[in-house]
Amino acid sequence: MTTISEKIAKLINDQINAELYSAYLYQEMADFYFDEKLLGFAKWFDKQAEEELEHAKKFLDYLRQHGKKVTLKDVKAPKCKLKEIRDGLKIQVEHEELVTSLIDKIMDQAILEKDYRTQSFLKWFIDEQVEEESHSAELLERYDLYSKDLSLLARLDHELGERK
Ligand code: FEO
Repeated sequence: MTTISEKIAKLINDQINAELYSAYLYQEMADFYFDEKLLGFAKWFDKQAEEELEHAKKFLDYLRQHGKKVTLKDVKAPKCKLKEIRDGLKIQVEHEELVTSLIDKIMDQAILEKDYRTQSFLKWFIDEQVEEESHSAELLERYDLYSKDLSLLARLDHELGERK
């Protein structure tokens, strides 16, 4: 059976950990917003955390499909200590940029190895990162525009709470 190299398998195994860390990070943020009684923001980050678990599972399944061992590693506690509402939104933007760079690194290796199956598999994640970066940047921008007007902020919170 055609499979993937050990190097690609290791990068993907590391990415499982990075996605699980993302889930932890967003869960911590969701709890911060919940405590601040911004229930829409909390729901947004709850959903983000759920999506990250799905991303981890997609990477895990890919290793399984290729007969590679999955080695789950410790997931670090989130490094963020949020003080203000804006903090989580800014961290989200920076974190998604970091995740994009990690996925790009796997793609670089897949291109180097002429590993077409991994390139095809990663395309979904590359598209997803375009979405994640754009949504997180837009959320930060909207917060900066609306934060001085409580009614606009309440509307944004309501809108975020509608996320399916
Ligand atoms: Fe799995 Fe938010 O990237």
